[in-house]
Amino acid sequence: MPEGDAVGGLDGPMLPETSEHRPIGEAGGVELEDAIRRRRMVRSFTDEAVPTALVDRLVDLARRAPSAGNSQGWDLLVLDTADATARYWDVTLPAGRRGDFGWPGLLRAPVLVVVWADPGAYVRRYAESDKAATGLGESPGAWPVPYWFVDAGAAVEHLLLGAVAVGLGACLFGLFEHEVSVAAEFGVPAGRRGVGTVALGWPAPDRPGTSAGRPRRSLADVVHRGRW
Ligand SMILES: Cc1cc2nc3c(=O)[nH]c(=O)nc-3n(C[C@H](O)[C@H](O)[C@H](O)COP(=O)(O)O)c2cc1C
Repeated sequence: MPEGDAVGGLDGPMLPETSEHRPIGEAGGVELEDAIRRRRMVRSFTDEAVPTALVDRLVDLARRAPSAGNSQGWDLLVLDTADATARYWDVTLPAGRRGDFGWPGLLRAPVLVVVWADPGAYVRRYAESDKAATGLGESPGAWPVPYWFVDAGAAVEHLLLGAVAVGLGACLFGLFEHEVSVAAEFGVPAGRRGVGTVALGWPAPDRPGTSAGRPRRSLADVVHRGRW
């Protein structure tokens, strides 16, 4: 197998890329179901750096998310130097406002991954011959559901679960009114939409977010079997 076909697995060695269906987690890694159950947003981090190789493994997991028409219309802006993360916070939470900020430990995150969606990539893909009949190649407005956000969300979840699997903490938070200024600061091309930012780092004692007290909806409430 050519080297290019091998990928870093979460438990270290290079694993072949495969669609083989078999149970996972047998090699002593965190099982997927366990990672899903354990995952919580972490909003406080130690000062310890995250090795670049680990960040590379996590963004590689994000890159493997499913996407409509295999459009893969996501981009990951990785800020993994003190200078770059400081510039992010200077734009989104200027020093004068930090005194009131409830999660100062979030600002210690050594890595920020800003996730961008590209509606144009979906429109171009669906204008191709095998998809043109859908009409979705006309414009972003033709899409009943903006799948670029759906797919970017899947990429985010891969990142979040990958972080759990290697013992890192992670938190997704919104760009809100800072989408345009963050794009300008880091040279993001026009037309990209800022989906959110994933902070990554080694977890420190934390304070739950304001939504943490909301109980998880029960299965009976969420699932409508056969009919609503
Ligand atoms: C799309 C999205 C946006 C979010 N934005 C924020 C945010 O701006 N700030 C924040 O503290 N948490 C944010 N969260 C985290 C949620 O508050 C959190 O996922 C929810 O309360 C459930 O907690 P858990 O993820 O720890 O299980 C966001 C989560 C999602 C999925």
